[in-house]
Amino acid sequence: MKALVLSGGSGTRLRPLTHTSPKQLVPVANKPVLYYVLEDIANSGITEVGIVVGESADEIQQAVGDGGKFGLDVTYLRQEAPLGLAHAVLIARDYLGDDDFVMYLGDNFILGGIAKLVEAFRADRPDAQILLTRVPDPKNFGVAEIGPGGRVVGLEEKPQHPKSDLAVVGVYFFTPVVHEAVRAVSPSWRGELEITHAIQWLIDRPCEVRSTTISGYWKDTGNVVDMLEVNRSVLDGIEPGVEGGIDAATELIGRVRIEAGAEVSGSRIVGPAVVGSGTVIVGSYVGPYTSIGENCRIEDSEIEFSIMLRDSRLSGTLRVQRSLIGRNVTVTPPSRVPAGNRLILGDHSRVEISS
Ligand code: G1P
Repeated sequence: MKALVLSGGSGTRLRPLTHTSPKQLVPVANKPVLYYVLEDIANSGITEVGIVVGESADEIQQAVGDGGKFGLDVTYLRQEAPLGLAHAVLIARDYLGDDDFVMYLGDNFILGGIAKLVEAFRADRPDAQILLTRVPDPKNFGVAEIGPGGRVVGLEEKPQHPKSDLAVVGVYFFTPVVHEAVRAVSPSWRGELEITHAIQWLIDRPCEVRSTTISGYWKDTGNVVDMLEVNRSVLDGIEPGVEGGIDAATELIGRVRIEAGAEVSGSRIVGPAVVGSGTVIVGSYVGPYTSIGENCRIEDSEIEFSIMLRDSRLSGTLRVQRSLIGRNVTVTPPSRVPAGNRLILGDHSRVEISS
């Protein structure tokens, strides 16, 4: 069995964090989502992985390399244009050969992983197997209609009037019959060959398409509340450890990971929290459920239940909470008080300030 990981995407749906970096590299607890995907695949016993890449190919290849660090043998498959998930299967035809495969979208995060599902699929081998999860906003997903006995009777891609709240998760198990299905479908209204339509083709044939409903699912929808939530869940399970330097005046409480090359002095860090390598924290408080990326600087500041990405700086700020701070951001108090607020913000930014 092989894995096909999709890491293309058009980059048109720009969100705060994906203006400057592909969505598959958005970090959760300081690790790109794509790394969790690859670790999950390795953990389920699959070693051959084809990664479909698009315009962000260079960044993805730089981050993943030949897959050796994950125990995987990675082959890159270039998709010249973002023509859909079924199109990605089409271009991967030669690579996949006649093997069964799991298709895993590189911006999807499955808490708890897929190892058990891979095992079940290998054992039962239905023609295809999909995962579903209940979501509050089904219009943004593929949506399943379930018939008697939990059978999938219909699938719709981003429907205006969803027939259920069961969204199609971006992990699909296929036998080679799917190659016929992806050749049979035509582009949707958004100009893409939809995998949803290919699976509907299988259902109509009729082939056996099974579904399993899971919980603990997340994808990058640009929703900050969701992102803080997934960061929280992952931090709950991190391995604590101090590889960086901490001075005698620093107090670490609970599950805290200080990565190599980080320096913490005169500060209090209450876990679960992670501090990335090269980051310097001086005279500050870092509270629970916080991920601080690499090469940040936090001085005379307080931050909790937040994500701060690499190369950013907090200086002299009162408590920052429930916040998402991108890369290369500087947060400082205004230069004199009283003063108006001076803001330099990119498109789609969201800022909450005291009035
Ligand atoms: C794609 C699929 C959709 C699925 C989603 C899961 O959507 O088309 O059916 O629910 O992935 O991530 P897209 O990311 O292309 O909007």
